[in-house]
Amino acid sequence: MRNIFLIGFMGAGKSTIARWLYRHQGMRLIEMDEMIARQEKMSIPEIFETKGEAYFRELETALLESLGQQENTVVSCGGGAAMRQCNVDAMRKSGKIVYLSASPRTIYGRVKNSHDRPLLEGNMNVGYIAKLLEQRLPKYLAAADLTVETDGRRAEEICGEILERCKE
Ligand code: S3P
Repeated sequence: MRNIFLIGFMGAGKSTIARWLYRHQGMRLIEMDEMIARQEKMSIPEIFETKGEAYFRELETALLESLGQQENTVVSCGGGAAMRQCNVDAMRKSGKIVYLSASPRTIYGRVKNSHDRPLLEGNMNVGYIAKLLEQRLPKYLAAADLTVETDGRRAEEICGEILERCKE
């Protein structure tokens, strides 16, 4: 199996799905945000605050470009990772790109109590999420080899669909 890159908005379920594939399919797991935080010895909000978003985006690109040699790995990408074409090119070279879609209301329900997403801090409402999602959607869709709906579905069902459609 080649690699699977999970892309999508914050709260789309990328980490949950990646962990499921790791536990049940024996895939290796890379959580981009976690790797970047470990490497920088800082949380994502701290990186945004002290070094700025542009610095964080460079770290994302460097990380994706370093993953070319991986195999059988599921990568849970940060929600903004698919916004840069060079990132998408790096993903496409080594695997399938799966867009996990979710409605603004579902996303809000999943992220509303968290404080580790600087872009939503002070903007934690369905309207803001809908606006940012609308801006990003064309890029998510253009990057994706396949789109999988997550609203109201269990991880097992979503993963079954991903695995089935990745074989095609
Ligand atoms: C971001 C999503 C976050 C994290 C950072 C920026 C984004 O990851 O990379 O806060 O631009 O959408 P998750 O999608 O895992 O929350």
